Amino acid sequence: MGLSIQNLAPSHDVKRFSCNNTALDAWLQNTSRQHQQKNLSRTFVLVQDCAPATIIGYYALAIRGLTLKEALPQTLQKSLPLNIPAMTLARLAVAHSEQKKGYGELLLLDAMARIKAAASLIGGSLLFVDAKNAESAAFYARYGFVALPDNPLTLGMRVADLP
Ligand SMILES: CC(C)(COP(=O)(O)OP(=O)(O)OC[C@H]1O[C@@H](n2cnc3c(N)ncnc32)[C@H](O)[C@@H]1OP(=O)(O)O)[C@@H](O)C(=O)NCCC(=O)NCCS
Repeated sequence: MGLSIQNLAPSHDVKRFSCNNTALDAWLQNTSRQHQQKNLSRTFVLVQDCAPATIIGYYALAIRGLTLKEALPQTLQKSLPLNIPAMTLARLAVAHSEQKKGYGELLLLDAMARIKAAASLIGGSLLFVDAKNAESAAFYARYGFVALPDNPLTLGMRVADLP
């Protein structure tokens, strides 16, 4: 089965995507294209070559702006200034019927590779995710993200530590 991860384009059928999280579905359906046009975020979709309009999963990347060093766990603070430029994995979701087949990991690793490439051009020391719930936070923790002390649903990772 040929798979590819592509920039969101008009040919992709955002309306039929469902991951059983209404906020993540609605964002892809109603907001992702507007954000793309306004350069607020970039969305990438996983599709099969044989059904290129059907979105198996997606993620979005965005600039996070400056993060205060004092909000970070000790493990992330080392050698960093008081205000830290960072990026966000703004959303990640896999269609309900396609979950638990490895696509979430595939998308996450692809997002990390793009973050590394972006950081090599413009800098950016940390990558953050805002998990929707404790279960999602557990998914991210498997890949090295560490929760912020005051907000366990926000997790960070040093760009230098990305795989
Ligand atoms: C969370 C989500 C992206 C995971 O995608 P997925 O395709 O089902 O995950 P994968 O099949 O790639 O799983 C990769 C590994 O993570 C594990 N995993 C999957 N979901 C997990 C979870 N919620 N908590 C902890 N581990 C999880 C899998 O068991 C697998 O580990 P293994 O290889 O040792 O078995 C997907 O379930 C989803 O879209 N959920 C709804 C939306 C959501 O909550 N998104 C998170 C945004 S905050």
